[in-house]
Amino acid sequence: MADDYEGFKSKVLTMTGIDLSCYKERQMKRRIDALIANHKAKGYLDFVEILKKDQKVFEEFVAYLTINVSEFYRNPEQWEFMDKTVIPELIKKFGKTLKIWSAACSTGDEPYSLVMALSKHIPLNQISITATDIDKQILAKAQVGLYNEKSIAAVPDEFKKKYFTKVGNSYKISDEIKARVKFSQHNLLADKYPTNYNMIVCRNVLIYFTDEAKEEIFKKYCDSLVQGGALFIGSTEQIINYAELGYKRMNSFFYEKV
Ligand SMILES: C[S@@+](CC[C@H](N)C(=O)[O-])C[C@H]1O[C@@H](n2cnc3c(N)ncnc32)[C@H](O)[C@@H]1O
Repeated sequence: MADDYEGFKSKVLTMTGIDLSCYKERQMKRRIDALIANHKAKGYLDFVEILKKDQKVFEEFVAYLTINVSEFYRNPEQWEFMDKTVIPELIKKFGKTLKIWSAACSTGDEPYSLVMALSKHIPLNQISITATDIDKQILAKAQVGLYNEKSIAAVPDEFKKKYFTKVGNSYKISDEIKARVKFSQHNLLADKYPTNYNMIVCRNVLIYFTDEAKEEIFKKYCDSLVQGGALFIGSTEQIINYAELGYKRMNSFFYEKV
């Protein structure tokens, strides 16, 4: 099966816009091989034929590739640092109209957490978050805003009471919070980056990319931030050569554009 992986990658790029060459190969191949075995396909190219014919398998494949695991206030101690240090500093520098981008936002847990975190400092109706992901299906889910108990476990109790309603076994986020987030599709590896952001939050996606792709994205984020703006990354994604890329380190998961 190993031989036709290169051909498979180029077909996947054409069909989905996802460039597997920018993702860590061993990890990605292991996932794809497992899915191919599940569908009893004879190899990569046989699987491509299935993907072309069966929309359900195609959607399953995209969801499987993009790894959508998320949760509200993921790594709560980092959100605490944002609340106590980063947001107050941003407000001091830029005022209360902050432009914020949640990139690779998955099911919306992260941008909705951002709205709640910001609401401690800024009136809700002044908050506006741009939230993007490559995966259209996941963006549709984010817009619905239904979560299980585990996803919202780290939400502070006051916000759980205020902004979630129990619907069966799920929790629905309130329209007040939803209204502050604009979702759209964006591929970090191919699309033009928006500019003039005061903070960019991009967590738990770059771990899947090659070092070259990751560095390219950190550079693009630097261009997308205003001077003094902050980049918030995942807990296992620290930037080693931050100074070279144009950042100052606040701690291992927050960087400031110099
Ligand atoms: C593990 S989730 C992280 C969600 C959230 N940021 C968090 O930390 O909880 C990774 C997300 O990255 C998205 N993703 C993968 N490749 C992408 C790309 N090239 N461009 C934009 N988003 C991508 C996936 O669709 C998925 O929703």
